[in-house]
Amino acid sequence: MAAPAPYTVRFVENDQEVVIRGCVRPRDAAGMADIRACLDGAAASVAGVLFINLKRLRYLNFIGFCELARFARDAGKLYPDLKVKLVISSVVPWADQRFSILPDLLPNVVVEHYDRAFYPGQGVIENDALIPVLRTQTNIVWHHERDLLASHGMRPGMKVADICCGIGDFAVLMRKEFKPSRLVAVDHSRPFLQYATQVAKDFGINDVEYVFGDATNLFLEDDDFDFVTSRLSLQVFNQPESILRELMRICRPGGRVYLTNEMMSHNYGYPRHETVSWTYRQIDEMCQTLGMDMSFGPKMFSLLTDLGFEDIQVKTIAITNRNTSPEDFARVIESWEAYVTGELSTATNLSEETVERLRSGLRDHVYTITSKRGYATWPLYVASGRKPSGGGRRSRGEAS
Ligand SMILES: C[S@@+](CC[C@H](N)C(=O)[O-])C[C@H]1O[C@@H](n2cnc3c(N)ncnc32)[C@H](O)[C@@H]1O
Repeated sequence: MAAPAPYTVRFVENDQEVVIRGCVRPRDAAGMADIRACLDGAAASVAGVLFINLKRLRYLNFIGFCELARFARDAGKLYPDLKVKLVISSVVPWADQRFSILPDLLPNVVVEHYDRAFYPGQGVIENDALIPVLRTQTNIVWHHERDLLASHGMRPGMKVADICCGIGDFAVLMRKEFKPSRLVAVDHSRPFLQYATQVAKDFGINDVEYVFGDATNLFLEDDDFDFVTSRLSLQVFNQPESILRELMRICRPGGRVYLTNEMMSHNYGYPRHETVSWTYRQIDEMCQTLGMDMSFGPKMFSLLTDLGFEDIQVKTIAITNRNTSPEDFARVIESWEAYVTGELSTATNLSEETVERLRSGLRDHVYTITSKRGYATWPLYVASGRKPSGGGRRSRGEAS
């Protein structure tokens, strides 16, 4: 029996898009005749722009590249009004080097690096100003999460993927507690992954696979992992459903996808509750202007249901100053203060006056956390669902 082709190609007529995935390594042009035929057929049937989606093209050898360039040149001659837009990803570093020369040679070609600015909050999330926030948060959440993970089905020896892993601290803690047989941790922030790999090196950890990637276009196999986690991330990405579909895809039937997200507008602190509540509502609104939904937590159940997950479980972690070290809790809010009044306020063009109100509201929260008679909360929602044996619901046009 012939080995399956290491790539797939298909034309999605409604999107005027040819999607090429996998590894294209032909020995000669004849070795990718099916791709060429698909491209020729697509060019003949569309008007305006023909998109060539290379987001999941893991590898393309030089012969393959020349054949794609030849197609673009021929299409320019045959259809002078047609633009050929090649959509590439920074996840495969060679793509930029190879394709960026084409627009200079062929005026009908446009190259788009789709993940350079692919979600509105990217600029404020994917930079090292968030590192202290992520570190202090995991520090207090892990104590609650360790037992919760087991109650959501995590067991020692499982094959685990942590998608949108941030600085990798959660992956390291899971590794220690559950000793997975394989642990892959993916994120789209280079500074976070750099931090994660440095920590792993410093601590002699060599069995966590840190990977630069986009959670909506993962280079991971279908049906592969027993347990897939994604913490505090669907809330920052403007298309949470696209991430969840990918988490479901890489999870094996019967395995579980585990999520956490916040309900920022319910953060609370007494006795200074009025300023504290105003502050978190304001932060929620600022984040909304950047496409984030920081009150996504309670919405997870509906999304898991819509995608066809089974046995969905939702729980809350109520972090309070009574069940968590007040000093550690206060440190989290202090890290938020620096981030909110800096990075986030700059990105949302806040006035000096509003920034000062936010600063004061966050300090009031710290006051309620550390004061003897104060009561302060940070509620987190945890949800998981089992992937059905049939694989769940796919969106229209999605490949099987
Ligand atoms: C609030 S952080 C949470 C990080 C980590 N899971 C944690 O709990 O500390 C959100 C993370 O999602 C990542 N992220 C957002 N959208 C992504 C995408 N499409 N692909 C990969 N990572 C993404 C960001 O880079 C960031 O590390």
